[in-house]
Amino acid sequence: MTVETRAHALFTQTFGSEPAAVASAPARANLLGEHTDYNDGFVLPTPLGCRTGIALTPTEGRFGEVEGVSEGFGGPFRADLVHGKREDWLDYVLGCLHALSNAGMTAPALRLAAVTDVPVGAGVSSSAALEVAILKAMRAALDLPIDDVEIAKLAQAAESEFVGMPCGIMDQKAASVARPGEALFLDTRNLATKTAPLPDDHHIAVIYSGVKHQLTDGGYGQRVAECQAACRALGVASLRELSTEDLPRIEALPAPLNQRARHVVTENQRVLDGVAALHDGDFEAFGRLMTASHASQRDDYAVSVPAVDALVEAALALGAVGARLTGGGFGGSVVALVKTSGFDMWLDQLLKTQPDARLVATVSGS
Ligand code: GLA
Repeated sequence: MTVETRAHALFTQTFGSEPAAVASAPARANLLGEHTDYNDGFVLPTPLGCRTGIALTPTEGRFGEVEGVSEGFGGPFRADLVHGKREDWLDYVLGCLHALSNAGMTAPALRLAAVTDVPVGAGVSSSAALEVAILKAMRAALDLPIDDVEIAKLAQAAESEFVGMPCGIMDQKAASVARPGEALFLDTRNLATKTAPLPDDHHIAVIYSGVKHQLTDGGYGQRVAECQAACRALGVASLRELSTEDLPRIEALPAPLNQRARHVVTENQRVLDGVAALHDGDFEAFGRLMTASHASQRDDYAVSVPAVDALVEAALALGAVGARLTGGGFGGSVVALVKTSGFDMWLDQLLKTQPDARLVATVSGS
């Protein structure tokens, strides 16, 4: 059963009526371009098969009043925008209402049911899938004049301004506009997108390390602040203004700002090179860029953890063409590129040698 069918069923069982609209949105894996989106840089995510589904209906009542039930967390629970954050999943619903109201759109009270197949804390952006599914269902129920790009912007505002996670726009854009079987090349400076083909003779596997990541803990915000400090020291408005030609200037910065900026500038270049490699069908080159991206995240950006490093190393030792930490880091998942012909044996051995690891999803081109 799809998450939409399950969300519909949960809604009718809980509230005894039909929902006005049902929508869903996918999780994502990022293939290259980590911690570049809040630096106006390049990213390359692809949607996963696991999704979050929302069924909802506007009800009598004041804007900001929500009654929500979820398959995983139970309910129904009542929440209200005027009371602020609750520190649970309903904050994402309130965040979407907050963003809509800031954009001049209000609506009646809401009743909603949420269902997900996306693992929480695995670094595949369960939050963006939830926000985008809520906003797409609201658009359908209320005929809101917003397109998928606007939905991504509202979802990012929900997360950064209400939930308090100072994220870039990669996850929300991927959840809102990316198509299965393709990588979405996104320039976060102007939100321009292009697609790049995924290989049909390799699998991209997303493997959860077993270490739950929690980006509101502070490490992510600290990296955002370090990039801003590097910009001030270098006299630029964003690190996107710099390229690998500026590395001598970057290396003269005090640590750790030199390392943080070096990661961002080299990672942007890896995305550009990676898109070219996908178009050329050079997956060995793409794999090398993924592995180099992991080293840069581990050594320069300091967002990896030992369990993730061990998983990347095991993935490569068992024959992956490339492997790296995907998502915000401090735990979460690894994305690996593996030839389809040996994939089953590779996965079997990986999961045997890494007992805490678990397969989240595989994707490939068609
Ligand atoms: C999280 C954020 C994204 C992005 C990644 C790191 O997933 O939500 O905006 O910054 O981390 O690339």
